[in-house]
Amino acid sequence: MSPRTPRPPRVLAAAERARARGFRASSGDGVGPLLAALAAAVPDGGRVLEIGTGAGVGLAWIVSGLGRRRDVEVVTVEADAELAADVRGDVPGYVDVRTGRFEDLHPTLGTYDLVFADAEGGKWTDFDRTRDLVRPGGVLVLDDLDESLYTRPEHRATVAAVVADVHADPRFTVAELAFDTGLLLATRARDGGTA
Ligand SMILES: C[S@@+](CC[C@H](N)C(=O)[O-])C[C@H]1O[C@@H](n2cnc3c(N)ncnc32)[C@H](O)[C@@H]1O
Repeated sequence: MSPRTPRPPRVLAAAERARARGFRASSGDGVGPLLAALAAAVPDGGRVLEIGTGAGVGLAWIVSGLGRRRDVEVVTVEADAELAADVRGDVPGYVDVRTGRFEDLHPTLGTYDLVFADAEGGKWTDFDRTRDLVRPGGVLVLDDLDESLYTRPEHRATVAAVVADVHADPRFTVAELAFDTGLLLATRARDGGTA
């Protein structure tokens, strides 16, 4: 299916940065507009976390969704220092691009109204720690969950385990969305729920 939401200029610039760097793991045009729409719904004074900045394409969708808002803090975590530095030079001041591995940084990150987990760490590993960072009423977004994307059985098993883990977490209401690369939305109960 061809994308129906036009790419905002900021997303086009990030996609060009990815192309120039030969970075091929950017988010697609399925999850991107969803991130923008969810960012627009973050409550006043809210916080957004992306785990795995890459070349900044998903981040550009998030920033585009926030439009002229300046009350929201966006934190994005990237293990690759060069990628992080590139993106840091091209984002609004309310975006905090942190260099480091999620596994090391998560105790310092605080909690969020919207979390996009898009890196090895925090998604395929340490996923329980990511779920703990979602505020009551907050939303967690995952992509790349379509098992047919993976040829190795151990990778398919990892994907299945992540999906099973979030379904088994009583704090979350889960919607699996079978489009693009296989998406999942999980909303934490407004009263926090019990783990
Ligand atoms: C799928 S790409 C991210 C794409 C980006 N979120 C987007 O929407 O275009 C995954 C990124 O996570 C980074 N990464 C991998 N493991 C990580 C970890 N443990 N902690 C933080 N970043 C990590 C990689 O360097 C890579 O840039």
